[in-house]
Amino acid sequence: MWFEVDKNGLGKLVERKGKQYVLHELIQNAWDQNVTTVHVTLTKEPGSRYADIIVEDDDPLGFSRLTDAWTLFAESEKKVDASKRGRFNLGEKLVLAACSEAEIITTTGGVRFDAEGRHRLRKPRERGSVFRGLVKMTNDEMTTCREAATRLIPPAGIVTIFNGEQLLPRTPVAEFDASLKTEIADEEGNLRPATRKTTVRVYAPKPGEIASIYELGIPVVETGDTYHLDIQQKVPLSLDRDNVPPAYLHNLRTLTLNHTHHLLSPEQAKATWVTAGLGHRDIAPDAVQSVITNRFGDRALTFDPSDPEANKRAVADGYTVITGGQFSAEEWANIRKAGALTPAGQVTPSPKPFGPGGDMLDFLDIGQWTPTESRLAERFKAIALELIGRPIKVDMVDDRSWPFKGTFRRSDATLTINRSKFNRQSFDGICEENLDFLIHELGHHYEGDHLSENYYRALSKLGAKLALIAVAKPELLK
Ligand SMILES: Nc1ncnc2c1ncn2[C@@H]1O[C@H](COP(=O)(O)OP(=O)(O)OP(=O)(O)O)[C@@H](O)[C@H]1O
Ligand SMILES: [Mg+2]
Repeated sequence: MWFEVDKNGLGKLVERKGKQYVLHELIQNAWDQNVTTVHVTLTKEPGSRYADIIVEDDDPLGFSRLTDAWTLFAESEKKVDASKRGRFNLGEKLVLAACSEAEIITTTGGVRFDAEGRHRLRKPRERGSVFRGLVKMTNDEMTTCREAATRLIPPAGIVTIFNGEQLLPRTPVAEFDASLKTEIADEEGNLRPATRKTTVRVYAPKPGEIASIYELGIPVVETGDTYHLDIQQKVPLSLDRDNVPPAYLHNLRTLTLNHTHHLLSPEQAKATWVTAGLGHRDIAPDAVQSVITNRFGDRALTFDPSDPEANKRAVADGYTVITGGQFSAEEWANIRKAGALTPAGQVTPSPKPFGPGGDMLDFLDIGQWTPTESRLAERFKAIALELIGRPIKVDMVDDRSWPFKGTFRRSDATLTINRSKFNRQSFDGICEENLDFLIHELGHHYEGDHLSENYYRALSKLGAKLALIAVAKPELLK
């Protein structure tokens, strides 16, 4: 024999996990059998340092090999079955190591562990198994164990009674099927990763509970997320049975998000498990949309580098403008794929004189201009030359469907006037309406963005210049 085991040392592993491990492990073993009722009692006499723990089940077959109760790492029969919780053939030994004395009676015989060692008992049961052990326990540990019992989610079809009270089944808030990593033994008995379809039940934690991953009703990993997730097959657990690989967790959280996003409050939608899902390749488009809406409200859009003014208009209209740095590349890819956010340029565009397709306006021939219009155009040219120091050209359109009074194109210094948007009389001579228009448009000689500092500086400068021109060359403004 190669190995010997120091019982005290093994017991300290349980000490490290906490005494509730004993309770969960014994119930795990019972639930793994063909049982309909499991009775658990945990009691402690006042003043005693030891608690008495009894777990009794009604599996007709009981232990198939009672030696497994004390043989560390024998082949666990449950390794090949993804719907059973046990796999290492370690748990029962850890439980025994934490006991000062213990007894197991089952269909194939009995065994007693005490200060003298291990004794076989010749009094098998008709059916079922009972474990009884004495475990050193403080009052605080008793409280922790009682709470640990209430955290269990009893599987359908198994009545579990703890200290005389039935552990009540819970109602999931959601339930979904998913292909998840599990572990199943190969022909040689080695546990191998495998992917298998299973059901995930989603529960709201009770007050005081920390959201956890459950393996078929037994809490295994605390996540601190919004929900308990009860996986209906073996979870890929560390030997300590208290952790899962990060990728498994990430995947599980994303799938959960896909099925619960509509249930989350705006506060819950800010949780890290939710936001982490945004970058996952399996997130569903409606989950992306819902997370974004929950986080930013209905009025959110993305910063649009191609239309600086649109971003400012969006802010002024009460939109939240989301900039590139707020999400990772993967998250942006998912947001775009889901169409969950629109660039400001498409929601609050800056006024664009020409349509996106570059639709051309129907320019009037000079022959179609009225004499007053021709005179006004000449006057505009003269004033503009003084104001911006550059000769301009003037075009005219008559288009009610074009929403603007006109435009100024800087590249070739062309002023376009939309006759249909002016009061008729305002063409008769220089007046407030047409001077206002001219200053606005000539401002674009300096700056395109209406909401920029540059633009308002240009306007005030033009206003000041125009006043001086009115004094120096009054005939231009008559
Ligand atoms: N209540 C029970 N009824 C029948 N068989 C049991 C019971 N409890 C334990 N066993 C048997 O004893 C074996 C050892 O249990 P143990 O908890 O050490 O290992 P396991 O459950 O297979 O794996 P793990 O270490 O992952 O819990 C089990 O595989 C099972 O065959
Ligand atoms: Mg076990």
